[in-house]
Amino acid sequence: MRILSVVGARPQFVKLAPIAHALEGRAEHVIVHTGQHYDELMSDVFFRDLGIPRPDENLAVGSGSHGAQTGAMLAGLEIVFERYRPDWILVYGDTNSTLAAAIAAVKIHLPVAHLEAGLRSFNRQMPEEHNRVLTDHASDLLLAPTEAAMRHLADEGLAEKGLLVGDVMTDVLYSIRDSVDAAPVPEGVRPGDYYIATLHRPDNTDDPERLRAIIDQLAGLSRPVLLLTHPRLARLAGEAGLKLTRGAVRSVAPLPYPDLVSAVMKSAGVVTDSGGLQKEAFLLRVPCTTVRSETEWVETVELGWNVLVGADVAALRDVVARPAPAPTDAAPYGGGNAAEVVADALLSGG
Ligand code: UD1
Repeated sequence: MRILSVVGARPQFVKLAPIAHALEGRAEHVIVHTGQHYDELMSDVFFRDLGIPRPDENLAVGSGSHGAQTGAMLAGLEIVFERYRPDWILVYGDTNSTLAAAIAAVKIHLPVAHLEAGLRSFNRQMPEEHNRVLTDHASDLLLAPTEAAMRHLADEGLAEKGLLVGDVMTDVLYSIRDSVDAAPVPEGVRPGDYYIATLHRPDNTDDPERLRAIIDQLAGLSRPVLLLTHPRLARLAGEAGLKLTRGAVRSVAPLPYPDLVSAVMKSAGVVTDSGGLQKEAFLLRVPCTTVRSETEWVETVELGWNVLVGADVAALRDVVARPAPAPTDAAPYGGGNAAEVVADALLSGG
């Protein structure tokens, strides 16, 4: 059987890793990179560190407006799909690369499986929300990470295509966690005495006033804050004349995945607007503060390990410095074998 994976952005490389390993020796696995992310630290380093085979094709689409970027991918992917005519096209998560691949596939009648199906923020301002809703409705097999995701699929009349497989990011995290346990903390900070922060969502980065208010809050924290600066944040802060390194905040380059896991494990807390990082913090039992009004990973909030700070960021500093949550041994994201379940489902035809 020939399975073709389409990836393009950082979190998708992480999800691809366990899938590539689970398919090894069981299927022909073609990897197509759209080129949505292209910087060394946003792309290449993940393939290297996570042992992912080099992509068979790279469309080198690069950055652009949503329409231009998605459209360029759509046209490029159609040609690649026709060349390989795979038995399954596997798409990951909710980026523009995901939507482009799903549309390109259905137009030429190739079966699509969507990994991370059924997640919803119910916020139609987010490009990811359009991407995931449209991708779910275009797909033939919906590989859901959580019970909540399965419920969303049922609510939209998609229950019959849904399959609860668990979360593949949990697979990667568990496989890396132990090997980085003894690694040193980032330079210049002490174990358990710093925060890790990331910000890249347009909602937070594109309005200079809001961005300034968030950085002000982080700058006032009593522990150092390592702000892992996504290129989008660097560019927009630069354009707004906003200095990111000030007060407690130190702006540093994005980290390779093992270094990120190590840095989060040893931190006092995480402040983020990323989807994946909220869940990774929870799995490592590090308190998280999410700078958004809603989350797709509701279990992290329900279990007390994640607190949302949305429209009004004035409370951010106090929320980050809150007392530690109650311990839990809940495992809403599965036991770390989701990729095996996905491989079995694809190989048995869904
Ligand atoms: C994308 C995904 C988002 C995901 C995130 C992970 C969409 C709509 N968004 O957002 O869901 O959480 O990836 O990081 O698909 N840039 C570079 N170098 C790169 C990549 C981007 O400089 O390698 C800069 C460019 O200025 C670009 C901007 O970052 O315009 C945004 O990149 P883009 O891929 O459009 O969206 P992300 O914000 O990364």
